[in-house]
Amino acid sequence: MRMIRILFLVVSILFSSSNALTQDFCVADVKAVDTPAGYPCKNPAHVTAEDFVFDGLKMSGNTTNIISAAVTPAFVAQFPGLNGLGLSMARLDLAPKGVIPFHTHPGASEILVVLRGAITAGFVSSANSVYVKTLRKGEVMVFPQGLLHFQLNTGKSHANAFVSFNSPNPGLQILDFALFANNLPSSLVGATTFLDLAQIKKLKGVLGGSG
Ligand SMILES: *[C@@H]1O[C@H](CO)[C@@H](O)[C@H](O)[C@H]1NC(C)=O
Repeated sequence: MRMIRILFLVVSILFSSSNALTQDFCVADVKAVDTPAGYPCKNPAHVTAEDFVFDGLKMSGNTTNIISAAVTPAFVAQFPGLNGLGLSMARLDLAPKGVIPFHTHPGASEILVVLRGAITAGFVSSANSVYVKTLRKGEVMVFPQGLLHFQLNTGKSHANAFVSFNSPNPGLQILDFALFANNLPSSLVGATTFLDLAQIKKLKGVLGGSG
């Protein structure tokens, strides 16, 4: 009986250590197709330090656009070393009055830290409760997965923030673009949103939709 118990112990230790022998990393082969389980791994023999470094967040994004704001992603497509690690980042730049309009990340929660300026940020829960706050340098806010949220520069100067996500590929769907940058006939957009046709046509014109 004692022998069997010791044998059991040895076998379970062997099993747990063989389970621990997982891969250190799986740098994305970004030439392949992304899947729900991530990209396939690049050949480890070809992995270099560059795969684990991304310098694209150093520079301010270009805010000369319709939203006066820029999102610079460091998702797995830009930063292959993130593949399989369950996290990613992005940089937000907002000119005065700039806005990251209502949007969701279907695949991740988000945490934001303001580095410069004043950003009014908020989200709406499934119960339609609104949680909104003006954040300044060093202040942090979290946006739960899948919920609609926004960031708006309510200060007088340029604002920026860094965000991180608990997914290498959080996804991004912007509400107004989903509604008005598409080719769904305006009558159907109206019937499904209760908005009036003139407003729908105007927003489709501004955002590049048709129909
Ligand atoms: C920023 O974007 C605008 C509009 O596309 C463009 O005209 C301008 O040259 C860009 N600025 C820089 C610094 O790239």
